[in-house]
Formats: sequence, C-alpha cells, structure tokens
Amino acid sequence: MSPTQTQRAIRGRFLDIQSIVVQASDIAEQVRYLEDGLLITQHGKIIWFGPWAEGQQQLNNNVQIEHYPEQLIVPGLIDTHIHFPQTEMVGAYGEQLLEWLNTYTFPTEMQFKDKHYADKIAQFFVNELLKNGTTTALVFCTVHSESVDALFEAAEQHQMRLIAGKVMMDRHAPEELTDTPESAYHDSKALIEKWHGKGRNLYAITPRFAPTSTPEQLERAGQLKAEYPDVYLHTHLSENKNEIAWVKDLFPEQKGYLDVYHHYGLTGERSVFAHCVHLEDAEWDCMHDTDSAIAFCPTSNLFLGSGLFPLNKTWEKQVKVGLGTDIGAGTSFCQLQTINEAYKVQQLQGNKLSAFESLYHATLGAAKALHLDDKLGNFNIGKEADFVVLNLKATALQQLRQQRAKNIEDALFALFTMGDDRSIQATYIFGEKAYEQKN
Ligand code: GUN
Ligand code: ZN
Repeated sequence: MSPTQTQRAIRGRFLDIQSIVVQASDIAEQVRYLEDGLLITQHGKIIWFGPWAEGQQQLNNNVQIEHYPEQLIVPGLIDTHIHFPQTEMVGAYGEQLLEWLNTYTFPTEMQFKDKHYADKIAQFFVNELLKNGTTTALVFCTVHSESVDALFEAAEQHQMRLIAGKVMMDRHAPEELTDTPESAYHDSKALIEKWHGKGRNLYAITPRFAPTSTPEQLERAGQLKAEYPDVYLHTHLSENKNEIAWVKDLFPEQKGYLDVYHHYGLTGERSVFAHCVHLEDAEWDCMHDTDSAIAFCPTSNLFLGSGLFPLNKTWEKQVKVGLGTDIGAGTSFCQLQTINEAYKVQQLQGNKLSAFESLYHATLGAAKALHLDDKLGNFNIGKEADFVVLNLKATALQQLRQQRAKNIEDALFALFTMGDDRSIQATYIFGEKAYEQKN
C-alpha cells in the first residue's frame, strides 16, 4: 500500500485550544476557530491542519474529502476517570459513597471474574464511549485480571488510546473481590508486561483507595511504580467526609489522606487522583509539588452528595485537572452532560465556568493531566488524529436556541448545556471513523 492511500481529509468548522495555559483568563486567546478548515491525516496522525483555502492544494487527487459543513469538529473528548465494570449500575438509589460501595458496587464487580461477562460489558462500554465522543479514558477495571484483558481487547479493535488497570484491594471488601499484597503485585506486573505500550494501550497501577489497601499492599504498589516509572497511578482521594475520617483512623501516623499515597511513592506526574473535593491546603501544595493530577467528576459528586469541587483552586494552586464521568457513581457517559454539571457546581460556589474553559478541561487540559499533551488534545500537526463531529442542532429545542447564538462561544455553551449523545454525529479514532450516528 502506498502511503497516500491511507490519507484522510476532513473539511468543516474546527474548534480547538492551541496550547497549554496557566490561567483560565488566557484560554480565550488560545482558541482556534476555523469556519472552513481542513484536517489531513495519515497513519493515524495529523499531517496538515489549517484553512481550507490554503490546504486544498496539498491534497492528492485520489483523496476522498469528508465534508461536514454544518457541524463543529473538536478534538476527541477525554474522560480522566471512569469504571467500566460499573456500566450496568448507573443510577443506584439512595446511598453516599461508603454504603453505595457495599450495597451496589461490590456485588456488581464480582461478576467480572467471568471473562465472557467481562468481554460483553467491555464491548458495550467501548461502544458507549465512542457514541459519546470520548476517544481516550483512564479506566478502573476490577480486581480480576480478566477484566483488564477484556477491556484492552475491546479497545484494540478500534485502536483506541485507553489507560486502565486491575484494582488492588486486600481489605474491607468481600473475599471474592480481594487480592493480597503479593498477588496484586504479581498480577499487576504481568498485566503491565502484557499491555503497557502495546499499540495505544497504557497501564495504570490501580489501588482502589487507601481504606481498601493495607500498608503492605500500598508498599507493593509503590514498588511497582518505582520499577515502571512510565506506568500510571490511578486511585480515589478525598471524595467524601466519612471516607476521609476513616483514612485518618486507619493511617494515624500519616499527616492526612494524600500523605498516605505520597508516603508510599504514589504521587507524581503520571498519578491521577479522582475527586479531591475536600483537599486541605497542604494537600493542594503536595499535588502541585509532585505534579499530580485531579479528575473532577461533577455528576458523581452531585449524585453521591460528596460535595462541590473547587475548580478555581486548580488555577490558583497550579494543579493539573481533567473531567471525569466516574460511571457508575456518575450519571452520564457524555462529557457534554459532565460539563453541564461542572458549570452548575461552579455556580453553586459563585464562580463562572466558560464554554472555552470547559472545552479546555475536556481536551488539552485533560491530555496534560494524563501526561499525553504531546500526543492528544488539539489539532497540532504530529498529534494523533482523534476527533469528534458535533451536531449543534440535534433536537428541535437546540435548533431554536442555536438560531439565537451570538457567536461560537455562545453556540458551544448552549451545546454543553443541552447536548447529549444525540449531539455526537461521528467519532474518529486514529484517523478512522469509529462511530457514526444513524438517523
Ligand atoms: N472510592 C472507592 N471506590 C470507589 C468507586 O468505585 N467509585 C467512587 N466514586 N469512589 C470510590
Ligand atoms: Zn471512581
């Protein structure tokens, strides 16, 4: 096959954020909006991006152009925290975190010992990501290695860049869901060797949270992190007040919740901590000093009554942050809905979250949080060609509202407020169309 045969050309309205910013007020300057743009991809990467008028001469005669004149094309949406085994338990009634785990989550996760079951849900899960325009996610599996195999196998079918790992959990959970410090170490190591860096797959060492790991197990997690420094660390932190009190009880010798992870060598530039709703000042400083990242999960924080995440602090303290759906405590796979709720969480604290800032957190900012901003997050040449084609007028009400949109920022804000999976026209992974909505 000649190299030109794999070229793809996409023409349409493009919107992205050109570079990393350090203050929310700088984002508007970095917005790149092309009314009539062209994106050329080859072998899964972006080889040209710019105005159609400049780019059309670059195209080989035999390249088919996919033209989306009405839609809006944005970089692939990134979900920095989600649990694939909890897909079937979204909307479990009535409990806050610790009771919710015991009542609903642990019984659901037990099913993933069975590889066939894990395969079935993994397929559903990956399709659901694609249907919602999510092209990369950082994913919790269960304690079973089978669940990790199932997920990476499903992701590979689309060459999707996923980061995932086996849960490590050796106490305070049903016996069927617990491992030991030793087995967690060996099973995780085998999975790292099998999957990390294979195709686009990446591995995350995944202790569930401090209460379900003994000090011995956290030590083993730290040992793995030291042996494989380019592997991720993914866990939960400071989500719920009872959880925080429990950690302080369990680890009295540590200065606080984050200090438990820090003590075992689990903070760092590829460490992602979900929630961080109730961090203390010293913990914000530790997040900054270690270059650790936060996954902000608004639909989950509201659903479980965990609290209001202070997004402004991430700018003040210069801590990396991305958005997470946190399915199944979160209530939607859709990043548009997640942004909608993020906006309300900020409103309740007297803060404004602009549409461009939301776009940043869902794309380039999230890529930075995942230490992947050299590969993902915008349309810069050389990056991987993951992107989403959005329909701003998916419903009659949205059509009416979009007629009044003052400018692209207002149009985007209305889409974020009202949009859902009906707004996702197509999802491209590594230059290939992986999903298209059937009307
Ligand atoms: N903390 C520990 N486990 C979980 C989980 O599965 N979901 C959420 N939201 N928080 C957790
Ligand atoms: Zn979670």
